[in-house]
Amino acid sequence: VAPLKVGIAGLGTVGAEVVRLIETQARVLAGRSGRGIRVVAVTARSKAKKRTIDLRGVEWAKDPLALATHPEVDCFVELMGGAGDPALSAVEAALNAGKSVVTANKALLAKHGIKLAKSAEKHGGALNFEAAVGAAIPVIKTLREGLAGTGINRVYGILNGTCNYILTRMEQEGLSFAECLKDAQRLGYAEANPSFDVDGHDTAQKLSILASLAFGTKVAQSAVYVEGISSIAPEDLRAADDLGYRLKLLGVAVRTAKGIEQRVHPTMVPKSSSIAQVMGVTNAVTIDGEGIPPITLVGPGAGGAATASAVVADIADVARGIRANPFGRPIAHLRDTKKAPMERH
Ligand code: HSE
Repeated sequence: VAPLKVGIAGLGTVGAEVVRLIETQARVLAGRSGRGIRVVAVTARSKAKKRTIDLRGVEWAKDPLALATHPEVDCFVELMGGAGDPALSAVEAALNAGKSVVTANKALLAKHGIKLAKSAEKHGGALNFEAAVGAAIPVIKTLREGLAGTGINRVYGILNGTCNYILTRMEQEGLSFAECLKDAQRLGYAEANPSFDVDGHDTAQKLSILASLAFGTKVAQSAVYVEGISSIAPEDLRAADDLGYRLKLLGVAVRTAKGIEQRVHPTMVPKSSSIAQVMGVTNAVTIDGEGIPPITLVGPGAGGAATASAVVADIADVARGIRANPFGRPIAHLRDTKKAPMERH
Protein backbone atom coordinates (compact mmCIF):
# COMPACT_ATOMS: atom_id res chain seq x y z
CA VAL A 1 0.00 0.00 0.00
CA ALA A 2 1.30 3.50 -0.80
CA PRO A 3 2.25 5.60 2.23
CA LEU A 4 -0.03 8.41 3.38
CA LYS A 5 1.54 11.66 2.22
CA VAL A 6 1.31 14.43 4.78
CA GLY A 7 1.75 18.21 4.49
CA ILE A 8 2.30 20.18 7.69
CA ALA A 9 1.52 23.90 8.00
CA GLY A 10 3.19 25.35 11.09
CA LEU A 11 6.49 24.14 12.53
CA GLY A 12 6.42 25.56 16.06
CA THR A 13 6.84 23.29 19.08
CA VAL A 14 3.87 21.11 18.07
CA GLY A 15 4.69 20.88 14.35
CA ALA A 16 8.33 20.01 14.98
CA GLU A 17 7.33 17.32 17.47
CA VAL A 18 4.84 15.85 14.96
CA VAL A 19 7.63 15.54 12.37
CA ARG A 20 9.86 13.90 14.97
CA LEU A 21 7.19 11.43 16.14
CA ILE A 22 6.30 10.40 12.59
CA GLU A 23 9.93 9.47 12.14
CA THR A 24 10.71 7.88 15.51
CA GLN A 25 7.38 6.00 15.75
CA ALA A 26 7.36 4.97 12.09
CA ARG A 27 7.24 1.22 12.74
CA VAL A 28 4.49 1.39 15.35
CA LEU A 29 2.46 3.76 13.17
CA ALA A 30 2.84 1.58 10.09
CA GLY A 31 1.81 -1.45 12.13
CA ARG A 32 -1.34 0.28 13.39
CA SER A 33 -2.26 1.95 10.11
CA GLY A 34 -1.34 -0.81 7.71
CA ARG A 35 0.72 1.67 5.69
CA GLY A 36 3.57 4.11 6.09
CA ILE A 37 3.21 7.82 6.86
CA ARG A 38 5.53 10.25 5.11
CA VAL A 39 5.89 14.03 5.50
CA VAL A 40 6.28 15.26 1.92
CA ALA A 41 5.91 19.04 2.28
CA VAL A 42 5.81 21.73 4.97
CA THR A 43 5.34 25.44 5.38
CA ALA A 44 6.16 27.74 8.29
CA ARG A 45 6.48 31.45 9.02
CA SER A 46 10.28 31.22 9.00
CA LYS A 47 12.22 28.81 6.87
CA ALA A 48 15.51 30.01 8.33
CA LYS A 49 14.68 29.34 12.00
CA LYS A 50 16.98 26.77 13.62
CA ARG A 51 15.11 23.49 14.10
CA THR A 52 16.29 20.17 15.50
CA ILE A 53 14.24 18.08 13.06
CA ASP A 54 15.49 16.53 9.85
CA LEU A 55 13.70 18.04 6.85
CA ARG A 56 15.97 16.66 4.16
CA GLY A 57 13.93 15.57 1.16
CA VAL A 58 10.87 17.51 2.37
CA GLU A 59 9.56 20.21 0.05
CA TRP A 60 8.88 23.75 1.32
CA ALA A 61 5.53 24.92 -0.05
CA LYS A 62 5.16 28.60 -0.95
CA ASP A 63 2.37 29.20 1.59
CA PRO A 64 -0.34 27.31 3.54
CA LEU A 65 -2.82 27.47 0.66
CA ALA A 66 -0.29 26.02 -1.79
CA LEU A 67 0.43 23.23 0.70
CA ALA A 68 -3.28 22.53 1.28
CA THR A 69 -3.86 22.04 -2.45
CA HIS A 70 -0.50 20.41 -3.21
CA PRO A 71 -1.18 17.49 -5.57
CA GLU A 72 1.17 15.21 -3.58
CA VAL A 73 -0.50 15.86 -0.21
CA ASP A 74 -3.24 13.41 0.95
CA CYS A 75 -3.53 14.75 4.49
CA PHE A 76 -3.17 18.43 5.37
CA VAL A 77 -2.08 19.07 8.97
CA GLU A 78 -2.95 22.57 10.15
CA LEU A 79 -0.95 23.73 13.18
CA MET A 80 -0.94 27.49 12.64
CA GLY A 81 -3.87 28.35 14.92
CA GLY A 82 -6.33 31.23 14.75
CA ALA A 83 -9.99 31.28 13.72
CA GLY A 84 -9.34 33.22 10.50
CA ASP A 85 -6.91 33.13 7.61
CA PRO A 86 -4.53 31.67 6.67
CA ALA A 87 -5.80 28.63 8.65
CA LEU A 88 -9.44 28.92 7.52
CA SER A 89 -8.89 29.24 3.79
CA ALA A 90 -6.18 26.57 3.78
CA VAL A 91 -8.36 24.05 5.65
CA GLU A 92 -11.34 24.85 3.40
CA ALA A 93 -9.21 24.43 0.28
CA ALA A 94 -7.86 21.07 1.44
CA LEU A 95 -11.34 19.75 2.29
CA ASN A 96 -12.83 21.06 -0.96
CA ALA A 97 -10.09 19.19 -2.80
CA GLY A 98 -11.23 15.98 -1.05
CA LYS A 99 -8.17 15.79 1.17
CA SER A 100 -8.25 14.88 4.85
CA VAL A 101 -7.42 17.49 7.46
CA VAL A 102 -5.92 17.10 10.92
CA THR A 103 -5.92 20.20 13.10
CA ALA A 104 -5.33 21.26 16.70
CA ASN A 105 -7.16 24.53 16.08
CA LYS A 106 -10.05 24.83 18.56
CA ALA A 107 -10.65 28.49 17.70
CA LEU A 108 -11.24 27.58 14.05
CA LEU A 109 -13.55 24.69 14.96
CA ALA A 110 -15.55 26.65 17.53
CA LYS A 111 -16.26 29.30 14.90
CA HIS A 112 -16.37 27.45 11.56
CA GLY A 113 -16.62 23.80 12.64
CA ILE A 114 -20.02 23.15 11.04
CA LYS A 115 -19.09 24.73 7.73
CA LEU A 116 -15.85 22.71 7.64
CA ALA A 117 -17.54 19.47 8.68
CA LYS A 118 -20.08 19.99 5.89
CA SER A 119 -17.28 20.32 3.39
CA ALA A 120 -15.56 17.18 4.73
CA GLU A 121 -18.88 15.32 4.47
CA LYS A 122 -19.47 16.53 0.92
CA HIS A 123 -16.01 15.81 -0.47
CA GLY A 124 -15.22 12.66 1.49
CA GLY A 125 -12.13 13.74 3.47
CA ALA A 126 -11.72 13.24 7.22
CA LEU A 127 -11.64 16.20 9.62
CA ASN A 128 -9.86 15.12 12.81
CA PHE A 129 -9.16 17.34 15.82
CA GLU A 130 -8.32 15.23 18.87
CA ALA A 131 -5.55 17.70 19.82
CA ALA A 132 -7.99 20.63 19.97
CA VAL A 133 -9.33 19.61 23.39
CA GLY A 134 -7.25 18.27 26.27
CA ALA A 135 -4.14 17.75 24.08
CA ALA A 136 -3.00 14.14 24.63
CA ILE A 137 -6.20 13.09 26.46
CA PRO A 138 -8.36 11.11 23.98
CA VAL A 139 -11.56 12.91 24.93
CA ILE A 140 -12.93 13.50 21.42
CA LYS A 141 -12.65 9.78 20.64
CA THR A 142 -14.17 8.87 23.97
CA LEU A 143 -17.25 10.99 23.33
CA ARG A 144 -17.54 10.26 19.61
CA GLU A 145 -16.71 6.57 19.51
CA GLY A 146 -16.28 5.13 23.01
CA LEU A 147 -19.62 6.47 24.25
CA ALA A 148 -21.43 6.41 20.90
CA GLY A 149 -24.24 4.32 22.40
CA THR A 150 -24.64 6.28 25.63
CA GLY A 151 -26.83 9.32 26.27
CA ILE A 152 -24.83 12.11 27.93
CA ASN A 153 -26.25 14.34 30.66
CA ARG A 154 -23.22 16.46 31.52
CA VAL A 155 -19.62 17.08 30.51
CA TYR A 156 -17.40 19.28 32.63
CA GLY A 157 -13.83 19.83 33.60
CA ILE A 158 -10.61 21.76 33.61
CA LEU A 159 -9.89 22.45 29.96
CA ASN A 160 -7.19 25.11 30.03
CA GLY A 161 -3.71 24.11 31.16
CA THR A 162 -2.46 27.67 31.43
CA CYS A 163 -5.21 28.73 33.87
CA ASN A 164 -4.82 25.64 36.01
CA TYR A 165 -1.05 26.13 36.06
CA ILE A 166 -1.47 29.77 37.13
CA LEU A 167 -4.03 28.98 39.84
CA THR A 168 -1.86 26.12 41.16
CA ARG A 169 1.30 28.19 41.47
CA MET A 170 -0.52 31.21 42.91
CA GLU A 171 -2.02 28.96 45.56
CA GLN A 172 1.06 26.88 46.35
CA GLU A 173 3.78 29.53 46.09
CA GLY A 174 1.87 32.76 46.67
CA LEU A 175 3.18 34.14 43.36
CA SER A 176 1.45 36.93 41.48
CA PHE A 177 -0.86 36.26 38.54
CA ALA A 178 1.52 38.05 36.12
CA GLU A 179 4.56 36.04 37.20
CA CYS A 180 2.76 32.70 36.77
CA LEU A 181 1.41 33.71 33.36
CA LYS A 182 4.92 34.59 32.21
CA ASP A 183 6.13 31.10 33.18
CA ALA A 184 3.17 29.48 31.39
CA GLN A 185 4.17 31.38 28.26
CA ARG A 186 7.82 30.41 28.64
CA LEU A 187 6.85 26.74 28.94
CA GLY A 188 4.80 26.92 25.73
CA TYR A 189 1.37 26.34 27.34
CA ALA A 190 -0.27 29.69 26.65
CA GLU A 191 -1.93 30.83 23.43
CA ALA A 192 -0.14 33.39 21.25
CA ASN A 193 -2.58 35.88 22.78
CA PRO A 194 -2.75 34.71 26.43
CA SER A 195 -5.95 36.64 27.09
CA PHE A 196 -7.65 33.74 25.26
CA ASP A 197 -6.49 31.53 28.11
CA VAL A 198 -7.01 33.74 31.15
CA ASP A 199 -10.29 35.30 30.00
CA GLY A 200 -11.81 31.86 29.49
CA HIS A 201 -12.26 31.90 25.70
CA ASP A 202 -9.98 28.93 25.10
CA THR A 203 -12.01 26.91 27.62
CA ALA A 204 -15.23 28.08 25.93
CA GLN A 205 -13.99 26.98 22.51
CA LYS A 206 -13.07 23.53 23.83
CA LEU A 207 -16.34 23.25 25.76
CA SER A 208 -18.40 24.08 22.66
CA ILE A 209 -16.66 21.23 20.80
CA LEU A 210 -17.31 18.77 23.63
CA ALA A 211 -20.94 19.91 23.92
CA SER A 212 -21.50 19.29 20.23
CA LEU A 213 -20.13 15.75 20.50
CA ALA A 214 -22.04 15.06 23.72
CA PHE A 215 -25.40 16.55 22.84
CA GLY A 216 -25.61 16.65 19.05
CA THR A 217 -25.78 20.44 18.91
CA LYS A 218 -24.05 22.56 16.31
CA VAL A 219 -20.71 23.68 17.71
CA ALA A 220 -20.87 27.41 18.55
CA GLN A 221 -18.64 29.32 20.93
CA SER A 222 -21.24 32.11 20.99
CA ALA A 223 -23.57 29.84 23.01
CA VAL A 224 -21.15 29.73 25.95
CA TYR A 225 -21.34 32.04 28.98
CA VAL A 226 -17.72 33.05 29.79
CA GLU A 227 -15.88 34.44 32.82
CA GLY A 228 -12.09 34.10 33.18
CA ILE A 229 -9.54 34.21 35.99
CA SER A 230 -7.69 37.46 35.30
CA SER A 231 -9.15 39.28 38.30
CA ILE A 232 -8.33 36.52 40.78
CA ALA A 233 -5.75 37.48 43.39
CA PRO A 234 -3.76 35.32 45.85
CA GLU A 235 -6.12 36.57 48.63
CA ASP A 236 -9.08 34.96 46.85
CA LEU A 237 -7.28 31.63 46.83
CA ARG A 238 -6.41 32.00 50.51
CA ALA A 239 -10.03 32.84 51.38
CA ALA A 240 -11.23 29.75 49.48
CA ASP A 241 -8.59 27.68 51.26
CA ASP A 242 -9.78 28.88 54.69
CA LEU A 243 -13.26 27.64 53.81
CA GLY A 244 -11.97 24.24 52.63
CA TYR A 245 -12.19 25.03 48.91
CA ARG A 246 -9.92 25.47 45.93
CA LEU A 247 -10.60 27.72 42.92
CA LYS A 248 -10.67 26.12 39.48
CA LEU A 249 -11.68 27.46 36.09
CA LEU A 250 -14.34 24.98 34.97
CA GLY A 251 -16.14 24.49 31.68
CA VAL A 252 -19.56 22.91 32.16
CA ALA A 253 -22.03 21.71 29.52
CA VAL A 254 -25.24 20.24 30.87
CA ARG A 255 -28.61 19.11 29.60
CA THR A 256 -31.37 21.12 31.30
CA ALA A 257 -35.14 21.38 30.78
CA LYS A 258 -34.48 24.64 28.90
CA GLY A 259 -31.76 23.39 26.57
CA ILE A 260 -28.03 22.70 26.63
CA GLU A 261 -26.41 25.08 29.06
CA GLN A 262 -22.72 25.85 28.44
CA ARG A 263 -20.70 27.94 30.86
CA VAL A 264 -17.13 28.77 31.86
CA HIS A 265 -16.29 30.45 35.17
CA PRO A 266 -14.03 30.18 38.21
CA THR A 267 -15.63 27.71 40.62
CA MET A 268 -15.02 26.87 44.29
CA VAL A 269 -14.54 23.12 44.55
CA PRO A 270 -14.22 21.26 47.89
CA LYS A 271 -10.55 20.42 48.54
CA SER A 272 -11.50 16.77 49.09
CA SER A 273 -13.09 16.42 45.61
CA SER A 274 -11.20 14.67 42.85
CA ILE A 275 -11.28 17.72 40.55
CA ALA A 276 -9.51 19.74 43.28
CA GLN A 277 -6.56 17.31 43.04
CA VAL A 278 -5.92 18.27 39.40
CA MET A 279 -2.91 20.57 39.59
CA GLY A 280 -0.57 22.35 37.20
CA VAL A 281 -0.95 22.11 33.44
CA THR A 282 -3.09 18.97 33.80
CA ASN A 283 -6.63 18.88 32.34
CA ALA A 284 -9.53 16.71 33.51
CA VAL A 285 -12.84 15.97 31.82
CA THR A 286 -15.74 14.20 33.52
CA ILE A 287 -18.55 12.72 31.44
CA ASP A 288 -21.85 11.83 33.09
CA GLY A 289 -23.51 9.22 30.92
CA GLU A 290 -27.01 7.80 31.32
CA GLY A 291 -27.08 4.67 33.45
CA ILE A 292 -23.32 4.55 34.11
CA PRO A 293 -21.17 6.16 36.79
CA PRO A 294 -19.14 9.19 35.65
CA ILE A 295 -16.01 8.68 33.56
CA THR A 296 -13.08 11.03 34.22
CA LEU A 297 -10.12 11.45 31.92
CA VAL A 298 -7.05 13.21 33.32
CA GLY A 299 -3.82 14.13 31.60
CA PRO A 300 -1.55 16.75 30.09
CA GLY A 301 -3.70 19.47 28.52
CA ALA A 302 -1.07 21.63 26.82
CA GLY A 303 2.50 21.63 25.57
CA GLY A 304 4.25 20.52 22.41
CA ALA A 305 4.69 16.81 23.13
CA ALA A 306 1.16 16.28 24.51
CA THR A 307 -0.47 18.06 21.58
CA ALA A 308 1.70 16.33 18.99
CA SER A 309 0.76 12.95 20.46
CA ALA A 310 -2.92 13.54 19.57
CA VAL A 311 -2.10 15.02 16.16
CA VAL A 312 -0.11 11.93 15.21
CA ALA A 313 -2.91 9.63 16.40
CA ASP A 314 -5.32 11.56 14.15
CA ILE A 315 -2.94 11.20 11.19
CA ALA A 316 -2.78 7.44 11.89
CA ASP A 317 -6.61 7.31 11.71
CA VAL A 318 -6.50 9.00 8.31
CA ALA A 319 -3.88 6.46 7.18
CA ARG A 320 -6.19 3.63 8.30
CA GLY A 321 -9.02 5.15 6.28
CA ILE A 322 -11.28 5.98 9.23
CA ARG A 323 -13.86 8.58 8.21
CA ALA A 324 -15.77 9.44 11.39
CA ASN A 325 -18.36 12.21 11.27
CA PRO A 326 -16.35 15.12 12.75
CA PHE A 327 -19.02 16.01 15.34
CA GLY A 328 -20.27 12.50 15.90
CA ARG A 329 -23.24 12.50 13.51
CA PRO A 330 -24.15 13.74 10.05
CA ILE A 331 -24.48 17.53 9.89
CA ALA A 332 -28.18 17.24 9.04
CA HIS A 333 -28.74 15.54 12.42
CA LEU A 334 -27.10 18.30 14.48
CA ARG A 335 -29.46 20.70 16.26
CA ASP A 336 -29.12 24.48 16.35
CA THR A 337 -27.33 25.78 19.42
CA LYS A 338 -28.92 28.50 21.53
CA LYS A 339 -27.58 30.18 24.64
CA ALA A 340 -29.62 28.40 27.33
CA PRO A 341 -30.69 30.39 30.40
CA MET A 342 -28.26 29.72 33.26
CA GLU A 343 -29.11 27.43 36.13
CA ARG A 344 -26.49 26.78 38.79
CA HIS A 345 -25.87 23.13 39.66
N1 HSE B 1 -3.34 27.42 25.73
C1 HSE B 1 -3.93 26.13 25.85
C2 HSE B 1 -3.94 25.72 27.30
C3 HSE B 1 -3.15 25.15 25.00
O1 HSE B 1 -3.27 26.35 28.10
O2 HSE B 1 -4.65 24.79 27.65
C4 HSE B 1 -3.82 23.83 24.80
O3 HSE B 1 -5.02 23.95 24.11
